[in-house]
Amino acid sequence: MDKVQVHDKHFSLFIENKEIEKRISDLALKINNDLKDKNPLFLGILNGSFMFAGELFKNLNIPCGISFLKLASYEGTSSTGKIKRLIGLNEDIKGRTIVILEDIIDTGITIDNIVKQLKGYEPAEIKIATLLYKPEAYNDMYKIDYFCFDIPNDFIVGYGLDYNGYGRNLKHIYKISD
Ligand code: IMP
Ligand code: MG
Repeated sequence: MDKVQVHDKHFSLFIENKEIEKRISDLALKINNDLKDKNPLFLGILNGSFMFAGELFKNLNIPCGISFLKLASYEGTSSTGKIKRLIGLNEDIKGRTIVILEDIIDTGITIDNIVKQLKGYEPAEIKIATLLYKPEAYNDMYKIDYFCFDIPNDFIVGYGLDYNGYGRNLKHIYKISD
């Protein structure tokens, strides 16, 4: 499929599944080497990171754990511009090496929010791994330790990423074409 429609928008093929999986397995090799003695805990950020997290995790061969977190809007107040609460952390991460797994880093507002909240639990270190990032949009607040693709500032869907709740199931990544 070279073209897909999600809601009212048209998208064209941007990165094929084979290429995505190749880059993720290359990244896993690097992480296997870098973090082999660190017993890292990977924290996937739902919903967008689930495919990236699954593919990366099955290519890791070091002692490590994984858990998934979600950013929840506060109830009762307007959520625009407000810090969203990070929910779902059951592990004690004090003193641990954490690797955040994101689908995409755009402006960096989301990752900033996540890092700030995780620091409160006193992990030994926090590393950031993302499938995609948009250097033109990113505020450079934190070093991105690991990424698979840097991409132009265009809207994309597929491989876990959505447009208003749809398109996450697409196995390739598609870029907006209208
Ligand atoms: P940031 O806070 O601007 O860095 O945005 C990060 C979040 O926005 C990601 O976790 C995605 O949920 C969403 N996002 C940013 N760019 C895209 C895109 O091109 N397609 C789909 N979702 C995106
Ligand atoms: Mg997301």
